[in-house]
Amino acid sequence: MKFGHFDDQRREYVITNPRTPWPWINYLGNEDFFSLISNTAGGYSFYKDAKFRRITRYRYNNVPMDNGGRYFYINDNGTVWNPGWKPCKTELDKYECRHGMNYTIITGEKNGIEAETLFFVPLKTLAEVQKVKLTNKNKEAKKIKLFSFAEWCLWNAATDMENFQRNFSTGEVEIEGSALYHKTEFKERRNHYAYYSVNVPIQGYDTDRESFIGLYNEFSEPQAVTAGKPNMSVAHGWSPIASHYIEVELQPGESKEFVFVLGYVEFESRDDKWESKGVINKKPAKETIAKFDTAAKVDAAFMELRGYWDNLLDSYVLKSGEEKLDRMVNIWNQYQCMITFNFSRSASFFESGVGRGMGFRDSNQDLVGFVHQIPPRARERIIDIASTQFPDGGCYHQYQPLTKRGNNDIGGGFNDDPMWLIFGTVAYIKESGDFSILDDMVPFDNQPGTEKTLFHHLTVSFNHVIENLGPHMLPLIGRADWNDCLNLNCFSWDPNESFQTTENNSEGSKAESLMIAGLFVVCGRDYVELCRQIGNNEEAARAEKFVNDMVEAVKKHGWDGEWYLRAYDFYGKKIGSNENKEAKIFIESQGWCTMAGIGLEEGMVKKSLDSVKKYLDCEHGIVLNNPAFTEYVVEYGEISSYPAGYKENAGIFCHNNPWVIIGETVLGRGDYAWDYFRKICPSYTEEISDLHKVEPYVYAQMIAGKDAFKPGEAKNSWLTGTAAWNYYTITQFILGIKPAYSGLEVNPCIPADWKGFEVSRKFRGATYKIEVKNSGVMKGVKKLVVNGTEVAGNIVPMQPAGSVNTVEVIMG
Ligand code: BGC
Ligand code: NOJ
Repeated sequence: MKFGHFDDQRREYVITNPRTPWPWINYLGNEDFFSLISNTAGGYSFYKDAKFRRITRYRYNNVPMDNGGRYFYINDNGTVWNPGWKPCKTELDKYECRHGMNYTIITGEKNGIEAETLFFVPLKTLAEVQKVKLTNKNKEAKKIKLFSFAEWCLWNAATDMENFQRNFSTGEVEIEGSALYHKTEFKERRNHYAYYSVNVPIQGYDTDRESFIGLYNEFSEPQAVTAGKPNMSVAHGWSPIASHYIEVELQPGESKEFVFVLGYVEFESRDDKWESKGVINKKPAKETIAKFDTAAKVDAAFMELRGYWDNLLDSYVLKSGEEKLDRMVNIWNQYQCMITFNFSRSASFFESGVGRGMGFRDSNQDLVGFVHQIPPRARERIIDIASTQFPDGGCYHQYQPLTKRGNNDIGGGFNDDPMWLIFGTVAYIKESGDFSILDDMVPFDNQPGTEKTLFHHLTVSFNHVIENLGPHMLPLIGRADWNDCLNLNCFSWDPNESFQTTENNSEGSKAESLMIAGLFVVCGRDYVELCRQIGNNEEAARAEKFVNDMVEAVKKHGWDGEWYLRAYDFYGKKIGSNENKEAKIFIESQGWCTMAGIGLEEGMVKKSLDSVKKYLDCEHGIVLNNPAFTEYVVEYGEISSYPAGYKENAGIFCHNNPWVIIGETVLGRGDYAWDYFRKICPSYTEEISDLHKVEPYVYAQMIAGKDAFKPGEAKNSWLTGTAAWNYYTITQFILGIKPAYSGLEVNPCIPADWKGFEVSRKFRGATYKIEVKNSGVMKGVKKLVVNGTEVAGNIVPMQPAGSVNTVEVIMG
């Protein structure tokens, strides 16, 4: 069952039934000011950091789900309704929500009044702009009452939800004209305030929640709205809100537009904070308000945002003949990559914005899906990430976006982390050709005076693995590898401990990871190639030896007969082996070791992938392990804590499915690669939205696996490495167009019955119009013609910036 449809022309998903199986959300803003918005206008806004600069309040896991947001209430002669259906849930005559690229348009109609609400954050603006267009479709004139509503969060989203003995006394507001200002804690240490304004005179307001809603009422029946009368309340402590009251008269056929601005102001200097004693300096707010004080100005800013996305998405355009594939590659997958790049794993409807900052490994992986869009932002991110590294190559697992400092709560010790810095940096250089980044001076742990070149950071990253090898000369796992839940040195019996942060008893541990081994071979080879590119042949030779040793160690100690082992535990016992009772085979090591082609000649890659097909594949995707754990294993930690079929215990962890897909392309099995890709691709699962539950336009982290109570049900949409990995996989391995140091490599791996496809790819300033023709093979380039001239090999040589080039690829 579907709840809407794609509108590819406008790059929108159109939701036509507000009762989606879960709130289907979108993100507004893409640099500093952000908002989350659901299909019923629920959600919240923040500046840069969803924990430390939360602007509006949101209650997660609420009853009903997704209550609270920016709401417009219309009181039409006693009938009270919202354009987005919620929270009043008055039955609408028409409802539609269009989620587009960083904007959302929600339209509701009731009794001949249509309310179209556009929400977006204009480029380079610290505000969410909302344009409400009311139209009277009746034959007679109408007088209606419009109320806005936003609830202020007292800045720190964590303390906002717990420190009530203080919070209920600190709230402060100011009201001036049609702007309602939120200035809690401004008097003391805060240099920032928020505001909510509208571009017309108002006939009233409320700034105190209790006055507006009523202590015993709900969002669905605020007493000011039902009474049709604001209270002119001025918040002193308790819970400050902002609500405008506007009386609107509409002639038959008439439309009126109102522009609301929900904004944020921050002062660099304390000296600029005040206008006069106790009165905040409103100048910057008024400047922003003035920029959007007419509908025409808003429309122009909206066009600018659309133009920005046209330009971004223009760098990779696919025409495959498969509509569902094209819309993912050209629109939604790229969009999700931008969102994950911005937020890492911090704020979604599954991540509260409080617990997790920017992940070291997460952000590096997000880069590969984003780097072609805005390489300079990827560059900046790499430097931010590397600055949190330790001198020995180890890393903080996360950092806070506001301070850019490593997060002490979670610490480090995840031994895969260092490798991802190589992964991200190489992707950036291959895309941009900018080797100068390697010479940038980057500190360790953000300590001034510790700066070394970024290249040095890559070297210590590489060394971190080889300096931490276990008894089988395989990488020690540390706290965990990519699988945060395979906690081999943790031994936790205390339910109050977090597996992520509990002591890492790695002293004397023999726990080794085959996932890191495969990752090391892939990224280690990248490092070797990079060294050669910059003429450091000595380092290349040194590194290459370690990579080759690792290949041998995997073949010798990492092979179980039919597949690669997953790990050795603390005591040196095999994990992911036929000898085990449960979880005999895991996906991560099959993915990474096949990607690395370890034992290709000996048939290991094929055997491993055949075992994946046999034991891990199911209708909805590839599960993480099999059989699922049915008992808690203290030696393994969190992975065995999940009920069978969910999350890291035999869920379809979509993030790692592409590893197997890339493995299949190493083998040249384009049909299997495509089949796996399609199984978890959102536009292909749209038809089963009722089962799948989450948004059909973005990937979810997890789909319940074959051992689960409800296989096929997805969770944790939006912020997942799945976005970047699938984009990377489809564009660079299945369609096979891959940035290389010297040009664009073309090496597709597709089902034999595909006749071909076309891609327009922007690369280092030049455009390549690539046409791939296939007559019955899955892999192999027989002929490459660039601008009419045949070229040997499969690399399209770099062309001058600004040029438009034709590339013909004949597979065979
Ligand atoms: C989840 C992981 C996640 C980790 C991060 C675990 O509970 O299962 O997917 O990476 O928490 O804190
Ligand atoms: C989610 C985390 O963000 C990611 O870093 C991790 O690798 C996976 N979970 C698997 O545990």
